[in-house]
Amino acid sequence: MIAVPAPSKILIKKLLSAKKIVFFTGAGISAESGIPTFRGEDGIWNKFKPEELANFNSFMKNPQLVWEWYQFRREHVKKAMPNNGHLVISELQNYFEVVVVTQNVDNLHRRAGSKIIYELHGNIEKNFCVDCSKRYDFVDFPKSESSPKCECGGLIRPDVVWFGEMLPATEFSNSEKAARECDILFSVGTSSIVFPAAYIPYEAVDSGKYVVEINPDETELSRAANEVYRGKSGEVLKNILDEFKRSIN
Ligand code: OAD
Repeated sequence: MIAVPAPSKILIKKLLSAKKIVFFTGAGISAESGIPTFRGEDGIWNKFKPEELANFNSFMKNPQLVWEWYQFRREHVKKAMPNNGHLVISELQNYFEVVVVTQNVDNLHRRAGSKIIYELHGNIEKNFCVDCSKRYDFVDFPKSESSPKCECGGLIRPDVVWFGEMLPATEFSNSEKAARECDILFSVGTSSIVFPAAYIPYEAVDSGKYVVEINPDETELSRAANEVYRGKSGEVLKNILDEFKRSIN
């Protein structure tokens, strides 16, 4: 069994003087909740082609197929529970101003109790009409033969960012600002290869902030980070929280 890495003395010292912390998260933080990541052996994109499912043209050509795939993922996500990683980030709000910048659409940070969350790739439980933009958030759509339609007749689509689409501008600029102004940025469970979201940790690097990566594998960001912890985010974050609590007592 590989031991979970313990937090360094430098990190604990940094935490003791920090006020603002950003968590930049990706699919890996939800892996311990049973939600598959996008890449890697069991990744979603090994089983489904993104160009067939996660883009606007595919949706307009075959809305039922794309809608059903999102319904399937919604059901999965609703049954999943936040894990230690999400819960530790939420608990850290008792000590710091915590901003979560997430690429995940699964709502697990919110369900764990995090308050400030910028969702760069949307939210799987939110929807809108492609014609009139009317919102249908957190609606339980019944199963039917065809994908749901708005009262104006337009197709209702999930409010997630598809390939070729822009990220939500305000969430992105708020995330950049948070990364520039934080004391420590943790990049957790992301391969750091999908831009523009993957720029966020570099905002912190370029502003001279302390950047910590938590990921079992090396990523594009690893070399730019001040520290890397190779392990599962739920376990590594729990160790960091426990050691931090010991150090303030
Ligand atoms: P990826 O699937 O690209 O990367 C997941 C990362 O999580 C990998 O680096 C894994 O090593 C790591 N990982 C796996 N298990 C972990 C664990 N228990 N603890 C910590 N890390 C773990 O997912 P993202 O980086 O989130 O975009 O992908 C970015 C974007 O690509 C997604 O938001 C999605 C996708 O296309 C859109 O849908 C727009």
